[in-house]
Amino acid sequence: MNPMKKLNDCYESISAKLNGFAPKVALVLGSGLGALADEIAVETTVNYSEIEGFPQSTVQGHKGRFVFGDIGGCPVAVMQGRVHYYEGYAMSDVVLPVRLMRKMGAEILFLTNASGGINASFAAGDFMLITDQIANFAPNPLIGANFDELGVRFPDMSEIYDGKLNALIRETASSLGVPLKEGVYIQLTGPCFESPAEIRMCRVLGADAVGMSTACEAIAANHAGMRVCGISCVANLACGLTDSPLTHAEVMEAADKAAPLFKKLIKGAVENIGKAEFN
Ligand code: HPA
Repeated sequence: MNPMKKLNDCYESISAKLNGFAPKVALVLGSGLGALADEIAVETTVNYSEIEGFPQSTVQGHKGRFVFGDIGGCPVAVMQGRVHYYEGYAMSDVVLPVRLMRKMGAEILFLTNASGGINASFAAGDFMLITDQIANFAPNPLIGANFDELGVRFPDMSEIYDGKLNALIRETASSLGVPLKEGVYIQLTGPCFESPAEIRMCRVLGADAVGMSTACEAIAANHAGMRVCGISCVANLACGLTDSPLTHAEVMEAADKAAPLFKKLIKGAVENIGKAEFN
């Protein structure tokens, strides 16, 4: 189906359940990080399965629903679980939820994920403010006909992660006493974890953390005129940096362990973003 038609159909299906609710911030919660939804004064929840044509996540640990509500006075649309390219969806489906939240009115996209740490100074459990990204190893979500109603054919990507949002997140982390690393996120397709040689390649390319999501969503959001920010939870050291083989269970466990501090940081950041003026 034409991606624009699909988007419009999904919008029609979900807006009937929203009663006019318009989020300011769209928040995507990654693997094992869904507990943040506990912090929301909930207005409505909508399971992805209730939205006609909406891609369904098949990954264990991803819940698969929208939570709409309020975090410290800021109206938010929160995705508990996302879909990934490795699940077999077209890239246009992978980024459909972001475009949908844009259509609902969200001006800001706050991305989170679990990643493997490449930077030698990172440890499992660290949080990394995403300052830039490498997305070239997965198909670009803008390939195909351009939808002029969303954005231009050749969008600028010189500041994918918004400087003002990054400054607010840094201030929030420091006032809460939450240590925050910074770096470049690289998206590979997955679903296999990387080989040691691939991680060496990623390091040479300038990546600090590796994962299987996020960068494509950031591109689609930028294309659609959203301000974007992102925080990665370094769940493990990337392949070759430790002796133990990587497992999804380990990633989930590490994300679970980091969840309380992560919740505090994201909640505080969203509250501050909600209060900020953007021109
Ligand atoms: N590699 C890719 N994706 C990941 C990893 C990793 O080591 N950890 C969590 N997501």
